[in-house]
Amino acid sequence: MAKQVLQKHDQSFSSRTVPDAAHALNNYKFSVIWLPPSSQWHNLRRICNSQMFSTSRLDANQSLRHNKVKELVTYIDEKCRMGQAIDIGQAVFSTTLNLISNTMFSIDLAHLNSETAQEFKFLVRGVLEEAGRSNLSDYFPVLKFVDPQGDIFVAGTDTSAGTLEWAMTELLRSPNIMEKARLELKQAIEKDKPVEESDIARLPYLQAIVKETFRLHPPAPLLVPRRAETETDVCGFTVPKNALVMVNIWAIGQDPDTWASPTLFNPDRFLGCDINFRGYDFELTPFGAGRRICPGLPLAYRMVHLMLASLIHLYDWKLEDGMKPEDVNMEEKFGITLQRAESLIAIPIKD
Ligand code: HEM
Repeated sequence: MAKQVLQKHDQSFSSRTVPDAAHALNNYKFSVIWLPPSSQWHNLRRICNSQMFSTSRLDANQSLRHNKVKELVTYIDEKCRMGQAIDIGQAVFSTTLNLISNTMFSIDLAHLNSETAQEFKFLVRGVLEEAGRSNLSDYFPVLKFVDPQGDIFVAGTDTSAGTLEWAMTELLRSPNIMEKARLELKQAIEKDKPVEESDIARLPYLQAIVKETFRLHPPAPLLVPRRAETETDVCGFTVPKNALVMVNIWAIGQDPDTWASPTLFNPDRFLGCDINFRGYDFELTPFGAGRRICPGLPLAYRMVHLMLASLIHLYDWKLEDGMKPEDVNMEEKFGITLQRAESLIAIPIKD
């Protein structure tokens, strides 16, 4: 069914059902996320693909991301020396924010870190308005066109940071998988040398861990709501014009007909197997598929692997207060993205 909606009838279902919240600030009139597949939307997608998330752009500005990850490492180092625990979600959230802002606009928003994504969105809007007033837009013209409301930050931050928090949760629950991942890193990268994006290709087990995290904890469990542009027949069912269409990728990830022991976190299932999340394998589509596929995928790919590898290459981790791996709370919180109900708190250890 997912393949029917996202590939065969991609054209019919490539519009969005815009939630009321996006109407409130007129976001839907400008945002690449909510626009129908109009020429305005096509232009924005083209700018995203060519100016922000192309391989050459991302290769060119990778050092900006490496520097930001080194700041995260310094923070963890300090905590490690003091034997203190870290709220993993919070630490990776602010790093992700910085990675995205550095990548897209090469401006440092570190001083704008705020408690919540909502606050941050307002701050971004402030930056944007400032840019409009003072012609700062000359420095980052792309920003003004692509994202007048800062939606891309929201789309990219919770999703990427949430993935990292779930991945770390699963690793802390499965010490043998953590050990295997750390061994792979040890063999691929010198001790104490920071991980770089160019290392990712040499880390197949780490890649399998990320895939397995996406399978069990897709950050956008129902993708982003689509809308039927025309009445469409899908496998004998009539989907009326304007119907809201959601693809439940969370359920696909847990489907026993598709996956052996679906509730088990087992990255090995992806070793020596071709399944990828680039929108062609419909058992694993955390970024969606078809013409609406997430344009931030190439950046998210680099950020998630880079941060996860950095967290576990340089440190071992243990749960606080002698908590046992099997006692970690795995509850999910209700919301647009699939976040953990309880923060993951862990103590870094230098080995
Ligand atoms: C793990 C990280 C991420 C996941 C799982 C994710 C997932 C998704 C999904 C499922 C969609 C909807 C696709 C569809 O309708 O088929 C989407 C759309 C989008 N994402 Fe991402 N995303 C991630 C990171 C990012 C990043 C880092 C950015 C940018 C910095 C970004 C920007 C966007 C935008 C602009 C759209 C709207 C595209 C459109 O409607 O044409 N995302 N994402």
